[in-house]
Amino acid sequence: MLLLSLILLIVVIYFIFFISQFYNVTFKNYPPFVPTDRETVREIIAAVQIPEQATVYELGCGRALFLREVEKAYPKTELIGLENLFSLYLLTKIHLKLRGSKIELLKGDFFKVNLKNAALIYCYLNNTTMTRLGEKFRQECRSGTQVISRSFILPGFEPEKVIMMKNKPVYFYRI
Ligand SMILES: C[S@@+](CC[C@H](N)C(=O)[O-])C[C@H]1O[C@@H](n2cnc3c(N)ncnc32)[C@H](O)[C@@H]1O
Repeated sequence: MLLLSLILLIVVIYFIFFISQFYNVTFKNYPPFVPTDRETVREIIAAVQIPEQATVYELGCGRALFLREVEKAYPKTELIGLENLFSLYLLTKIHLKLRGSKIELLKGDFFKVNLKNAALIYCYLNNTTMTRLGEKFRQECRSGTQVISRSFILPGFEPEKVIMMKNKPVYFYRI
């Protein structure tokens, strides 16, 4: 009986995930959940310097793998992940709790969160979202904030460097 309830719960969570993702992608032009692989995340982290106690954001964090790897390498940083899909947020929240992680996971639209404290921002999103984010970064971020975008350019900014990782470009910007 307990097993059946558990299976039913997992099916419901997946159903909610697929329906809300379909809605977001089709009607809001939001990027779907496609995770960055661990090897790429580690390569990205090796390519940057993160100051101690810096605030690091992952916009549309999914399973928050980028933040989890930053937490291992830079345990004193403040880590904030934002995810819009409720089921994904819930699963990640449970996972982080079980691991004893100090990552702050927030459910909601990252366009509604002020990024003025960010020292580093990681994005793996889409072209439309990066175009909107460019304006937001210009208005809110301090000069010197590092922005890393996998696969998609940040229109209106020149990357400091571009590194190919697993056949995809990763763009490193400084606002
Ligand atoms: C391509 S996935 C990347 C996931 C994760 N950052 C990674 O690299 O593994 C993009 C994620 O952003 C989320 N997302 C898209 N638009 C968002 C928004 N406006 N606010 C919060 N999350 C958003 C999606 O639900 C999805 O989980």
